[in-house]
Amino acid sequence: MGQVKLIVSNWKMNLNLLNSKNLIDDILKIRHSESFKHIICPQHLLIPSISGLLRDSKIIIGAQDCHYEKNGAFTGDTGVDLLKDYDCEYVILGHSERRNYHKEDNKLIKKKVDLVISANLKPIICVGETITERKSNKYLEILGNQLDLCIPNKSEEIIIAYEPVWSIGTGLVPSYEEINEIYDFTDKFLKNKKMTRKLNFLYGGSINSENFKEIVNKTKVNGALIGGASLKTTEMKKILTFC
Ligand code: 13P
Repeated sequence: MGQVKLIVSNWKMNLNLLNSKNLIDDILKIRHSESFKHIICPQHLLIPSISGLLRDSKIIIGAQDCHYEKNGAFTGDTGVDLLKDYDCEYVILGHSERRNYHKEDNKLIKKKVDLVISANLKPIICVGETITERKSNKYLEILGNQLDLCIPNKSEEIIIAYEPVWSIGTGLVPSYEEINEIYDFTDKFLKNKKMTRKLNFLYGGSINSENFKEIVNKTKVNGALIGGASLKTTEMKKILTFC
């Protein structure tokens, strides 16, 4: 068996208490392929109940974001210690929806990355270009900048999720060559920085049970970050049972 691949479900701001529990019930019935490690990232308010439901399973719970300070006067935010209290092991950071709607920049994301690592959690660092940036051929420069400013100085493993903004929720997926180009770029980037750390490279954007197999087989990715399809039992069953 090759390297275990990470399948990250990003539920985003979807599902209420009842239908999230129903989805977990269904997902727990699936006999996962041993090739995958499944991480589910629900809305913060769902984390306590979902964490309880996953306690005796192999599925891991993660969060979609956190604050860059451990605690303090930050109304409406969530700190890493509470995430740990509910067994979260991973935190998605720098998602384009946070960069866009919450105006998070690379500097702020880096602060979160550093805090998450110091709390012994694993950041899943999202990078990706807009369609304008891709068309203007500036995408490598943009991605290089995001990597440069967001990657932690310490940590043995780096999880990068390449999510082109133009692919999220649109049904548009880059070609295998385009995904591999970004994998090679990221790998070279880390080597140039003398970062000989393990790279876990995920792809995200309009993944479904149809395109998942090909993306996993024909590109160099080590896993996937899944939005819309992660909310559907039938889709997740096909994805998680694929070896
Ligand atoms: P979709 O799979 O719905 O395109 O979302 C991707 C994403 O943003 C995951 O973080």
